[in-house]
Amino acid sequence: MKTVEEIYDRYAQDYSGDFAPTTFTTSHSAMSFANDITWHFILKYIPKNKSIKILDAGAGDGYWSEKLIKSGYKNIVLSDISQKMLDEAKKRLAKTKVSYVKADIANMKEFAANSFDFIFSQFDPVSYCMKPAHALKEMMRVAKKNAYIVASLDTKFRRVSELVEAGQIDKAKHLLKTNISYDFVHPQYNLTWEELEEYAKKAKLQVIEIIGAPVFMHRVDEKVLEKLEQDKKIRKQLLKIELENCTNKSLVNFAGHLQIVCKKR
Ligand SMILES: C[S@@+](CC[C@H](N)C(=O)[O-])C[C@H]1O[C@@H](n2cnc3c(N)ncnc32)[C@H](O)[C@@H]1O
Repeated sequence: MKTVEEIYDRYAQDYSGDFAPTTFTTSHSAMSFANDITWHFILKYIPKNKSIKILDAGAGDGYWSEKLIKSGYKNIVLSDISQKMLDEAKKRLAKTKVSYVKADIANMKEFAANSFDFIFSQFDPVSYCMKPAHALKEMMRVAKKNAYIVASLDTKFRRVSELVEAGQIDKAKHLLKTNISYDFVHPQYNLTWEELEEYAKKAKLQVIEIIGAPVFMHRVDEKVLEKLEQDKKIRKQLLKIELENCTNKSLVNFAGHLQIVCKKR
């Protein structure tokens, strides 16, 4: 099996379009809710001072860094295990002065302790590194005191019913037993919110919020959701429903993604 680095290197150029072959796909509409929820919580916790030093860990092609640059933040370091993904980010952010470092989120030896005022890692680097506890410890190490860390990863229980539906009962059993699934062509480590909270606490991080992104919309039929969200008023109402419920702990273990907000004491 190829490593996650090789896979992202191979698919980097097509990343913004149709990504690597997947067992399951999340509809674009549901992903747009995941994005809006993610952005809501990044904005809620990022310091207002635009010159702070930010780490985008597992930055991919720089989607989130670009949004932050457009919001006025300038001092951003993008790190990723895939050099080709960083090359894509360089194209996207060509006119900016951010920096790029090839680094494994589970062992960020390239960065000194207490370096960053805000750290975020969106859409799964913490799952894909297969060592979520190490990734949390590393983000805590390189964060400055009082810095917020916002990370999102894959939920353990969400895929079980989908695997059963696809006739892949052995894979469902394997996921439940080991936390490992193969949605993409590499393994990923999925967590429950309880496990994620435990890892964060073991890393000596203060857990501020645990969020599901999204908690409902990924369960709505893709075509129905596509049609509904064409009406901007309805889209707004649906996002409001998500934001009002996305921290409800009885929902987050079945969410599209699990997002955690922590603080270094
Ligand atoms: C689904 S993409 C998300 C990219 C970006 N954060 C976003 O939200 O658009 C996952 C990224 O994690 C990176 N990645 C996987 N394992 C990693 C690791 N151990 N350390 C750092 N990055 C990793 C991949 O190369 C890929 O760019």
